[in-house]
Amino acid sequence: MSSTQAILITGGAGFIGSHVVRRLVNQYPEYTIINFDLLTYAGNLDNLTDVESKPNYHFEKGDINDMELVGQLLRKYNVTGIIHLAAESHVDRSIEDPLSFVRTNVLGTASLLEVFRRYTKEAGINGRFYHVSTDEVYGELGDTGYFTERTPYSPRSPYSASKASSDHFVRAYHETYGMPIVISNCSNNYGPNQFPEKLIPLMINNIRNNKELPVYGEGANIRDWLYVEDHAEAIDLIYHKGKDGETYNIGGDTELKNIDLVRTLCKVMDEKMGRLLGSAEDLIRFVKDRAGHDHRYAIDFSKIKNELGWTPATDFKTGLAKTVDWYLANDAWIDHVIDGSYRQYYERQYGQ
Ligand code: NAD
Ligand code: DAU
Repeated sequence: MSSTQAILITGGAGFIGSHVVRRLVNQYPEYTIINFDLLTYAGNLDNLTDVESKPNYHFEKGDINDMELVGQLLRKYNVTGIIHLAAESHVDRSIEDPLSFVRTNVLGTASLLEVFRRYTKEAGINGRFYHVSTDEVYGELGDTGYFTERTPYSPRSPYSASKASSDHFVRAYHETYGMPIVISNCSNNYGPNQFPEKLIPLMINNIRNNKELPVYGEGANIRDWLYVEDHAEAIDLIYHKGKDGETYNIGGDTELKNIDLVRTLCKVMDEKMGRLLGSAEDLIRFVKDRAGHDHRYAIDFSKIKNELGWTPATDFKTGLAKTVDWYLANDAWIDHVIDGSYRQYYERQYGQ
């Protein structure tokens, strides 16, 4: 790829997107990096204060459904490729309001593909479209087995159905129009800057405020955890070295039962907060299960390992300690994102 790249990153103000933006801005000072984000409740420019004054970084606010604006930006910056992360990303919210997931994840992705197809044709370039997706498109596993890139799609929540649909549109643009695309399907991320609706930051924030820790069902569901900076590294690698038309699974090699993860987190928080009376574990409450709760996700990531040489660099103990340290050192960040709308969401989801 040429050294004069201009990459439009959608959802660059979100959790994973901000780590991808930071990595690319720092690693490739010769590139132009455009962060295009609507700044929904999940988007936060405070995630990027350390890169905002770099000359190769640009922020543009807008909606991926706004084809006119996206078209103007593609021309303004002579964009050579897109890394698409913008999405509604929280499963519980998709159960509450499925149509907003269709609007953003399905229609938004289809609009972005179409405006990029027209733009690349007009500009006479072969721009790459990289779609960042989830392992949830494969459905759920029993106690054994792994998702491979050949596992049939079987999404079970409105979130995963919307992501599966967007994956199909991306693949269809490759097959029908020859668009150079790549897709990756990744397991659960954790790390700094994650919005406190997701399991780990929600529990950290509740422990910090001495609030109950709501564990769904019996806490027996299993997830595979990946430190967010390792995901950003994989995205960088796939964008530059992945093969056109291919899918890559990304995983953390860290399968944990939710209740075991929460107990481990409680111990780490007890140590770091110097808790004097009892343990944060006393705050654990088993609550009503999530509807259609997928039992287990586990990833076979041998393809990216063998073909591109990527493996997760951060073990869970180190990643969790770094994550807790970050949240404890960034009270202001959390207090800022926990506004009235978060409190309303929390009440609807968990009651009081
Ligand atoms: P996030 O919810 O933290 O961030 C999403 C970002 O998209 C926000 O900045 C938001 O403002 C922006 N956005 C939402 N709607 C938009 C629109 N219409 N136009 C422009 N911007 C819009 O999400 P995340 O956890 O960082 O996930 C990023 C991507 O990675 C998503 O596509 C998600 O499906 C995928 N993914 C996430 C995980 C995970 O564990 N979090 C794992 C695998 C894949
Ligand atoms: O697998 C990748 C997916 O991981 C991403 O595509 C999604 O964007 C991301 O949100 C995540 O989905 P999950 O549903 O697995 O993540 P969440 O953090 O919401 O929940 C993790 C597990 O913890 C899940 O089994 C549900 C459980 N849980 C979650 C919350 C918020 C609880 O027990 N209590 C809670 O309060």
